[in-house]
Amino acid sequence: MNIEIKKICCIGAGYVGGPTMAVIADNCHNIEIKVVDINKERIEKWNSNNLKELPIYEPGLSEIIKRRRGQNLYFTTQVENAIAEADMIFLSVNTPTKTHGIGAGKASDLKWIEASARQVSKYASGDTIVVEKSTLPVKTAETIKKILYDCKTTNNDKKNFYVLSNPEFLAEGSAISDLQNPDRVLIGGEDDFAIEALSRIYLNWVQPENIIKTNLWSSELSKLTANAFLAQRISSINAISAFCEASGADVNEVAKAVGMDSRIGSKFLNAGPGFGGSCFKKDILNLVYLCQFYNLNEVADYWQKVIDLNFWQQKRISNLIVQKLFGTLYNKKIGILGFSFKANTNDTRESPAIQLCRDLIDEGADLLIYDPAVDSKQISSDLKQTSRVDNKVGTGNWQSVSNVYEATKDCDALVIATEWEEFRFLDFEIISHNMRSPSWIFDTRNIINLEKANQFNLNIWSVGKS
Ligand code: NAD
Ligand code: UGA
Repeated sequence: MNIEIKKICCIGAGYVGGPTMAVIADNCHNIEIKVVDINKERIEKWNSNNLKELPIYEPGLSEIIKRRRGQNLYFTTQVENAIAEADMIFLSVNTPTKTHGIGAGKASDLKWIEASARQVSKYASGDTIVVEKSTLPVKTAETIKKILYDCKTTNNDKKNFYVLSNPEFLAEGSAISDLQNPDRVLIGGEDDFAIEALSRIYLNWVQPENIIKTNLWSSELSKLTANAFLAQRISSINAISAFCEASGADVNEVAKAVGMDSRIGSKFLNAGPGFGGSCFKKDILNLVYLCQFYNLNEVADYWQKVIDLNFWQQKRISNLIVQKLFGTLYNKKIGILGFSFKANTNDTRESPAIQLCRDLIDEGADLLIYDPAVDSKQISSDLKQTSRVDNKVGTGNWQSVSNVYEATKDCDALVIATEWEEFRFLDFEIISHNMRSPSWIFDTRNIINLEKANQFNLNIWSVGKS
């Protein structure tokens, strides 16, 4: 059997669906791709003539959208039509942690996956390859197949479905280059012709040796495992950062020495305020939940510790700021540089800056928050308040400001929460002039030039340095 892929539908126009389909469209001009979403506002932004209004900030993305939108790449809310026409359908919907019911706080909420599988079952026609792009618990493909086949039977139509797992490994901020030059593409499945059909798409720009073919369950589990290993490295170096501060070692020097061992490698060893982002925490929690389900409690406890350490690091830093500022933040102003969970993205999901800001506001600080890509509406929704009810200065409040130096005006402390490039080149002369003495800089990302900063009357704390 052979299926020639002429039309693709991607359900979910988010951080994965949008960039992934853009890169496929850019490399496969002969395939028509429709990215569909139930979120009308998001689709309108994808279709905006002003490319600065795209719903996702990702270097290199707007150039591709400009080239391919309206050529072979379309964004639409017409879900049914796009499904009906497609030879291949990617499920790229959100899979957050469940907030209530069985497994709340750990298991993935699969309601969006189930809803999209039901839509596919209802509207698809003929032979359709269904690709899991979302990150899913092991064995989800079984559920998807069940939904597709059971609904199909009741409709009595002539439809055939072939389910593949093709997890996405892109990181935000570098999504386009990750998609264009992936370390590997992973395809899990049971039907060889379906695996080959998807593989042929990637072969337009990926070397064959970088395309790995596995069974469904290995593919699903590899995605969770990759994220767990990456997060574990960050918790490991963050644990050592605290030890460095206590012992006089320097975490950058330790990371360099350790990372030069080729068995360990140098990437993902930057100490920081704890990992954020929509996936590490939810995917490890999901892994913990699955281990408990299979009665592997020691394994579950092992991975849970990676998350516990991450939370501890976040709290450790906010506690330390309070301590250095004489144990109280009442009537103090603090500038926050960076609110996104990492540089080069406007995504704030699970950003360590959120917990940090909440803790500082709780202690009574007034925050001046600056981020080059995150708007104040987003900050407001993350901090779950526009301002304190009493709105009195000195009792815990925040506002967003439009540049670094505004964020330092009359401040007692400046916290670097995200490693945006522009924060590497701060003018400490202006900053020290703007701030109230004694002035503190807390560099949670180890990015400032300490030699330059030390020339001014500033107290400096950098993560992992004594
Ligand atoms: P997202 O929330 O940005 O986007 C998901 C989109 O799906 C939303 O716009 C939502 O409206 C839409 N949607 C939900 N149900 C729908 C339905 N029935 N029909 C049409 N649209 C529907 O999520 P994301 O960050 O793109 O993540 C998607 C998946 O990819 C998750 O499983 C995530 O774990 C995984 N993943 C994310 C990243 C990342 O960097 N964000 C990287 C790799 C994998
Ligand atoms: C991560 C993985 O890197 C991707 O491979 C995966 O596809 C994705 O999750 C996913 O499944 O969603 P992402 O969360 O976008 O990508 O970004 P990362 O670069 O992994 O950063 C995650 C967090 O770890 C950020 O808060 C970042 O600042 C922090 N981090 C990263 C560190 O604190 N130190 C490091 O050395 C690296």
